[in-house]
Amino acid sequence: MCGIVGYVGKKNSSDIVLDGLKTLEYRGYDSWGIAVNDNGKLDVFKKVGEINIKKVPLPKTSSAIGHTRWATHGGVNEINAHPHFSTRRDFVLAQNGIVENYQDLKGKLIMKGYTFDTETDTEVIVRLIEEKRKSNETLKDSVRDAFNELEGRNTVIVLDSSKEDHIIAVRNGSPLVLGIGKDGIFLASDALAFAKYTKDVVFLDNYDLVEINGNEFKIYDAKSGIRKEYKVTKLNNKIKGISKGKYSHFMIKEIVEQKDTVLKAAEYSEDDLKAIIEAVRNANRVYITGAGTAGFASGQIAYYLRNIAKVDALDVRSYDFETFLPILTKNDLVIAVSQSGETADTIEILEFAKEKGCKIGCIVNVEGSTIHRMSDYKYLIHAGPEICVASTKVFTSQCVFGYLLAKSMVNEYKEAKSYIQDLSDGLSDYFNEKSFKHIKKLAKKIKDNEHFFILGKGQNSYISLEGALKVKEISYKHFEGFSAGELKHGVIALVEDDTPVFSIISDDKDSKDIISATEEVKARGAFTVGVGDSKFKNESCFKYFLPTASNKELSGLANVVAFQLLSYFLADSLGNSIDKPRNLAKSVTVK
Ligand code: F6R
Repeated sequence: MCGIVGYVGKKNSSDIVLDGLKTLEYRGYDSWGIAVNDNGKLDVFKKVGEINIKKVPLPKTSSAIGHTRWATHGGVNEINAHPHFSTRRDFVLAQNGIVENYQDLKGKLIMKGYTFDTETDTEVIVRLIEEKRKSNETLKDSVRDAFNELEGRNTVIVLDSSKEDHIIAVRNGSPLVLGIGKDGIFLASDALAFAKYTKDVVFLDNYDLVEINGNEFKIYDAKSGIRKEYKVTKLNNKIKGISKGKYSHFMIKEIVEQKDTVLKAAEYSEDDLKAIIEAVRNANRVYITGAGTAGFASGQIAYYLRNIAKVDALDVRSYDFETFLPILTKNDLVIAVSQSGETADTIEILEFAKEKGCKIGCIVNVEGSTIHRMSDYKYLIHAGPEICVASTKVFTSQCVFGYLLAKSMVNEYKEAKSYIQDLSDGLSDYFNEKSFKHIKKLAKKIKDNEHFFILGKGQNSYISLEGALKVKEISYKHFEGFSAGELKHGVIALVEDDTPVFSIISDDKDSKDIISATEEVKARGAFTVGVGDSKFKNESCFKYFLPTASNKELSGLANVVAFQLLSYFLADSLGNSIDKPRNLAKSVTVK
């Protein structure tokens, strides 16, 4: 949800910021903008759409800020794109977040005579800073005063024209990381934006205010204004710049990477898992929570914990968790599942849980993210940067970690590791032209249909939901996943001649039910597609069959990969934007 970049240093600042914004485009790609300080004159360049230029027409300077937008308030156009000028054009500001009290603030500012050029809540912050300048000597204190009046989760960055190389930024909710390099100081919503220049970072906390003055910076507590100590963290050396390599999209690259990432997620020794196992054992109940794909991963992990380790584990979507707060006790453990570690819905629930005195665990991909830092039991899945907005490799990695945890709780760590290795080997064999061709053929056949259903059960129940989400995100087709048991209770009314119905089938106790449900929809004319263990490929209920790298207890994870590929090939054949689907952003840092 919007990406922010700032730079002060020896290199051409607009090049650095442009490069950083390209890396952060997964956070929003409606429009973007860059501002530079050219000897006391601020120059801004803005554009609607994706970033597809190599250089911005701005003068060469040593300080700049930039922003990539995912619109919340106000349409997608150059006027609403950030950064926004102050009335006197003496500073520019970009924001990530939502000012929840912006109407109230705007009303008061209008009464004071301020005018507004945009429909954004961001401009309210700009005008409020202008107002605060009247009673403050410094821009820093004016920014601080204004910031403390904002409600909601907001992070802002300001470029000043009155001093050379002067940037002020404040974080609350939406992430902000500071990078200390030999050629300059960086600020960004995600360290990836500058990871190729420096590995020395400061993960800013909520209400940290940073002031960069030339080659120095200071951090203050925005609430009190008092200077703060900070900790420099070394980023994992493996994080480099990102590229699609030989692939035409990040999505397909990330899908194929799963043969390796499922192993990385399980690179924990039995000793490493002791702390979380102990916490799970001692908990009254374990709640697993996340949103979207991470919510479905939570469901799959809870399934493993209940069915393998016999733990009272319940998955609850983070945006709906509030209805469970009345029964949450301090003896419950809450485990958050998240790729970014910055999802506002999930963070809010963790804050409530912490207030109740619960311990928090996390299964996340981004080190130093808010959820990672606020957790008592921190587990990274080491999937590497996931750039495609639709999550693929992170889903399987999170589930693999949950599976390893569940198996370790019943002393089956070694068996789990060997099944995970089998999954990885199975996927390595599966990613070949023959499987791709078979899925492409199906994609071509169904691409004109509008409604699709996916049936799953047991280990494939959440896979049907995740499979449906994956395909709808990129193909914009109506895919609905549900438990096969639900079919007769209503959904079957929607099945008519040629409706594609996918049935996920593993070699397990649920296969019979899946076959019966498929027979029922076939009898009503459905175009039935089996997805799963090739053992079932000749079952007469299926009109088409997609064999997967199906693998005993981890069959569900092998099966979901077929839907990821179907999503990819379907979207490709429809000519859709794959890595950046319409209306979506990868990191949902606003509510
Ligand atoms: C879908 C997808 C989203 C995210 C959700 C939570 O492909 O990526 O549904 O799973 O927005 O994000 P994280 O995992 O960053 O908490």
